[in-house]
Amino acid sequence: MPAQIIDGKKIAKQITEGLKKKVAALQGDARPGLAVVRVGDDPASVSYVNSKEKKCKELGYYSVKKELPEETSEKELLKLVAELNADPRIHGILVQLPLPKHISEQKVLAAISPEKDVDGFHPMNLGRLLRHEKTIESCTPKGIIKLIKSTGIEIAGKNAVVVGRSNIVGKPVAALLLNENATVTICHSKTTDLTSHLKQADIVVVAVGQASLITGDMLKKGAVVIDVGTNRLEDGKLHGDVDFESAEKVAGFLTPVPGGVGPMTIACLMENTYEAFAS
Ligand code: GUN
Repeated sequence: MPAQIIDGKKIAKQITEGLKKKVAALQGDARPGLAVVRVGDDPASVSYVNSKEKKCKELGYYSVKKELPEETSEKELLKLVAELNADPRIHGILVQLPLPKHISEQKVLAAISPEKDVDGFHPMNLGRLLRHEKTIESCTPKGIIKLIKSTGIEIAGKNAVVVGRSNIVGKPVAALLLNENATVTICHSKTTDLTSHLKQADIVVVAVGQASLITGDMLKKGAVVIDVGTNRLEDGKLHGDVDFESAEKVAGFLTPVPGGVGPMTIACLMENTYEAFAS
């Protein structure tokens, strides 16, 4: 039997429709406010930032989009972050990554007020995540957990393998899976035998940015496979890190690219912004 496809678009829509209703029911003028900051013209970032702004409009959020030139200095960006921190209409601040090389990502992320850090990238929020304390969870990792839970499969006690150790996805999703009581292995570019780990994995999350790195023959029969890859190839199409055709024959559940993790990231950003507003 081929894998069941996890419809991220549908699950994301359920979340955003719920938020839209909550905003429509608000009394007075107060509404969730999100500021999205982009520095430079990276095409993927332009597209991500625009879709975040569009989603804010759709849900009735107050939205601010700041598009700064590539030459913007670190000092100027830090000044903007400080202004947004002080702006009572703004409940969430997202600085789109990657930043130009002359700007310290670490300094900028740490300058965002932890309570407005709807990306969950501030060291305080990441520390709370590791300590399994109440925190703002990063959008993509949070969306991944929701997708896994949508299958009805119990995470506790399962073997979970995360392929990729980025600060944005791999490490935080591993922490979330651990908080859900999975037995978690993180594989990366120096892992000697990736297949031996994957063959034990009931849950697989792949976030490395290499098209079709994982093929069906590397997976355990029936595994839940979450593909975070968004690789734009010469055919102009988006391809995941998992070879869909072969994985579909082995996995129990599989996310498509596009239409899997991507829509969940934006939905969770909207959810985090609403929660920052409501708290
Ligand atoms: N770049 C790629 N993914 C993300 C994300 O989730 N948040 C931010 N701020 N930048 C990104």
